[in-house]
Amino acid sequence: MYGFKLIAKDRNTKARTGVLSTAHGEIETPIFMPVGTQATVKALTPEQLKECKAQIILGNTYHLFLRPGHKVIEHLGGLHKFMNWDRPILTDSGGYQVFSLSELRKITEEGVEFKSHLDGSKKFLSPEIALEIQNSLNSDIVMVLDECPPYPSTYDYINLSLALTTKWAKRARDAWDYSVEKDGRYQFGIVQGGMIKELRRKATSQLIEIGFDGYAIGGLSVGEPKNLMYEVLGYSVEWLPENKPRYLMGVGKPEDILYAVEQGVDMFDCVLPTRNARNGQLFTKKGTINIKQEKYKLDNKPVEEGCDCYTCRNFSRAYLRHLFHAREILSSVLNTIHNVRFFLRLMEEIRESIKQQKFSEYKREFLKNYNNSEV
Ligand code: GUN
Ligand code: ZN
Repeated sequence: MYGFKLIAKDRNTKARTGVLSTAHGEIETPIFMPVGTQATVKALTPEQLKECKAQIILGNTYHLFLRPGHKVIEHLGGLHKFMNWDRPILTDSGGYQVFSLSELRKITEEGVEFKSHLDGSKKFLSPEIALEIQNSLNSDIVMVLDECPPYPSTYDYINLSLALTTKWAKRARDAWDYSVEKDGRYQFGIVQGGMIKELRRKATSQLIEIGFDGYAIGGLSVGEPKNLMYEVLGYSVEWLPENKPRYLMGVGKPEDILYAVEQGVDMFDCVLPTRNARNGQLFTKKGTINIKQEKYKLDNKPVEEGCDCYTCRNFSRAYLRHLFHAREILSSVLNTIHNVRFFLRLMEEIRESIKQQKFSEYKREFLKNYNNSEV
C-alpha cells in the first residue's frame, strides 16, 4: 500500500505522473512543496495551506536543530503535531544550509562542524546525526546529509567532495531503520557532482548501488548559467531508476519546473512563491506583476482573472497594493496565498495534461502566455 506508483507516462516527452503514499497521506506527482523552514510556511496557517491545496511541505533540519531543537519538537509529539500540519513533510538534511548560512565550517570524514548563525555556538552534524534529527521530527521523507559544492568549483574539489558525500550517503543508509519504511517513511539520496558529467554519472551509480527510496538532484540552481543547468539536469534524470521518485532540489521558476517535468522530474521545492509574495511579486499566467506599482492604484480586478484562490476571490489589486504600501501584515498573507495557489495550480494542470497525453501542448501554451507579459 505504501510506495511510489506511476499512473501515466506522457508519450511524447519523459514527463510522468504518479502517487507517493506516505505515513501522512498520499502526494500526487509532479508536486511542488511550499517551503516551511522553521516549522511554518511563512505567513500561512496550516488551514490556509490546505485551502491552497498543499499536499506536502518542506522543513529544514538545520534550522529546527538550532531552534527550538529537535528534542523539544520530539517531546511535543514530532513536527506534524508541533506545527499542526497532518499531511506529509519532507525535511532537508542540513547539508545545504550549513554551507549557505553558517560560518567557520570544518568538514571532516566524520561530519561537519559549524558555528550557529543564531548565536555563534559550535555545532556538529554527521550523516547519523542528520538522520537522528529527522527521525525526531518524524519526517515522512528524510534527506541524507550531503555537500553541495559551490559554483564554480574545480574538478579536483568536486571529486573529493563527491567521495565524501557518497560515504556519508552509505552511512546514512546503514543507519536507516528499514522497519519504518513499511510505515510510509522514506529516505532519499542526493546526486551531486557539480556540472561534470562523468562525476554526476559516478554519483548516480553509487547512490543506486546503495539503494534509496527516491533520488534527489542536488547542486543545481547554484549560480550556473541556465543552459548549463538544463544540460546537467537532462542527463542526471536520465540515469535514475524509473520506478522511484525524483526530486529536483531548490527549483524553481515555473519555466524551470516545466522543463524539469519534461525531463522526468517528480518533486520540487523553492522559496520563490513565498519569499517573492512578501516583496509584492505575484505570479500570473501572463507573467509576474509587482503589486507596488502605481498602475494598480485604482485597479479593481483580482490579481489573476480565473484564479480560484482566497485572495483572488475576495480582493482587488488596488487593495493588495494599499496593504503593501501600508506595510500591513495581511499583505504578506494574501500575497502568499495567491502565489502558493498559483504554483500548486500549475502542478495540478501539469498532472492533468500528462494524464491526457497533452503535456507538450500545455507547456507550449503556458510559456507562450507567461512570456508574453502585458498584465
Ligand atoms: N537544496 C537545494 N540544493 C540542495 C542540495 O544540493 N543539497 C541539499 N541537501 N539541499 C539542497
Ligand atoms: Zn489568486
